[in-house]
This record gives sequence, structure tokens and C-alpha cells, in this order.
Amino acid sequence: MMNILEYKKIIQQNLEKYFEEYKKNSSYSSVIWDSMAYTTLLDGKRLRAIMCLEIAKKFGIDYEIAMPLACSMEIMHAYSLIHDDLPCMDNDDLRRGKPTNHKVFGEAIAVLAGDALISFGAKLIIDKLKNFPSDVILDILDEYLKTAGAQGIVAGQVADIEAENKKIDIENLKYIHKYKTGALFKCSMLIAAKLAQVNDKIMKNIEKYADNFGVLFQIYDDIIDCTLTTQELGKTAGKDANVHKLTYVSAYGIDGAKNIFNNLVKENYDILMKLDIKSDVFDEIYELLNKRINN
Ligand code: IPE
Ligand code: IPE
Ligand code: MG
Ligand code: MG
Ligand code: MG
Repeated sequence: MMNILEYKKIIQQNLEKYFEEYKKNSSYSSVIWDSMAYTTLLDGKRLRAIMCLEIAKKFGIDYEIAMPLACSMEIMHAYSLIHDDLPCMDNDDLRRGKPTNHKVFGEAIAVLAGDALISFGAKLIIDKLKNFPSDVILDILDEYLKTAGAQGIVAGQVADIEAENKKIDIENLKYIHKYKTGALFKCSMLIAAKLAQVNDKIMKNIEKYADNFGVLFQIYDDIIDCTLTTQELGKTAGKDANVHKLTYVSAYGIDGAKNIFNNLVKENYDILMKLDIKSDVFDEIYELLNKRINN
């Protein structure tokens, strides 16, 4: 049985392998591949990929088979991080403990690398899962494309940017969390469930689980933004307060935010029970998040 460290290692190896393969077969300048690979391959927690593999596993699909899906989620995630850090967005210098993509490659290449990553993730799904029925793959791609764009992450990021320095309500904040962060977690778990062709009832439960996880994860991110150091975060501390962002912390205080976080974790535990799933890996993920918000 795999734990999160083992998952992380094997996800990293596969990401490296894919980048090497596609870069080698690419006709034009390699700088775009270097830029795409730079942010993707830096040390991230790989939670989206891990959760994708774990859902696949629980419904009968081995991690070797589901790996292209998991990697496509880390690739989409890297696109969202590169664009999120741009000077016109959050204007961040530090990501995963290293200079942000535009600091290393310049803004133009960073924008293009984000664009190219979106299509790279989809291409991997098409190229590497040829043994699956095409309607299953089409359904997965539908979810992938929805998530990457204006029905997913982009919708959340637009709402996030528009909310800066403005009074917004909690409903609006929930919307932002659900889309800018939740959409990708949801996609990660749903496409794994789709690959395993689970029934509608199970799918609904996974959807609820993933929705909850997206929100609780962004609450976690908002908490550590103001409780951990830049060194511990690997990104600039205190960002949200600096731009007067409404977060669960500014709205409910740190303890209030932790309470909501804990309630969502509990709700998710109940959903897994209902699905008759016991996952040490999901337990490990909650432990990791808990440790960081309570340190
Ligand atoms: C950061 O996500 C972006 C958010 C959605 C808050 P992670 O905290 O999962 O970042 P990495 O992948 O571990 O660097
Ligand atoms: C994360 O929001 C959303 C995306 C990256 C899409 P944040 O702006 O809070 O993420 P960090 O804190 O920069 O990782
Ligand atoms: Mg942001
Ligand atoms: Mg940011
Ligand atoms: Mg943040």
C-alpha cells in the first residue's frame, strides 16, 4: 500500500518522464518546455495527483494506469500557479521556495508556458489512455476543459481579482473558493471516478466530497498565509492581509476558520464511511493540513 510520500515520488518521476519525452519530440525552441517544466517539477505537495490516484485505486484502477490523469492535474495546477503569480495578478516573487516562473523566464514566456500547460495536460490524457473507450475519455476531457477555463478556475480567479479591495459577502467568498481552488480538486477526483466508470450515486458522493475538500483546502491556505513564515510557506507570507482580501480568516478569525475547516473534514469523513471507503492516504492528507494550521 502506498503512502503520500511514495505517491509523491512516483508522480514526480512520471512528470519528469513526460516532459522529457515531449520536449525531445518538439520541433521548436526548448525554452518554452524549460519554463513549463520549471514550475511543474518544483517541489509541490502533489495533493491533486495523489487524490486522483487514490480515488482511482479505491474503485479498482491501479496507479500505473491512472498516472496520466494524475499528472495532467499537476500540469493544470502548475498553469494556474504560474498565471496566479504574474505581476498583473498576485505579483508574487516566490513559489515552492523558488523564484516564480516570470522571474526566471520573463513575463511573456510565463504567460505562454501557462497556456501551453493547459493543452499539454489534455494531450497527455488523449495520448496515454488509448486503451479506454472513447466515450469515457471524451467525458474526462469535458471535465478537464471545463475546469481549466471560464467554467472553472478562471471563473474563480476573475471573481477573486474583482473582489480585491472591495466589500464582498460570504456567499461571494464561497464562490471564489469553490472555483479558483475547488474546481481543480473536484476535477482530480471526478476524472478518476469516470475512468473507473462508477455509478451515478457514487459519483454524487465523490462530487460532494471533492467540493468540501476544495473549500477546506482554501481555508487551510488562507490560515497558513497569516500564521506561517515565508520560509515555511515557500511563498510570500501575509499576502492576503496586504491586499485586504476577504478570507475565512478575516471573516471568522483564525479559530472560527479552523472550526469551519474541522467541520468540513468531519463531513468528508462521513461521506467516505457512506461509500464504505477507508483511506489511510486521505487520513494522512488531513493530518498534514492539520499539522500546518495548528503549528
Ligand atoms: C496552492 O496549492 C494554490 C492554492 C490553490 C491555494 P498547493 O498548496 O497545493 O500548492 P503546491 O502544489 O503544494 O505547491
Ligand atoms: C489560489 O489562490 C488559486 C490559484 C492558484 C488558482 P491563492 O492566490 O491564494 O494561491 P497562493 O496562495 O498564491 O498559492
Ligand atoms: Mg490568487
Ligand atoms: Mg496567489
Ligand atoms: Mg493563498
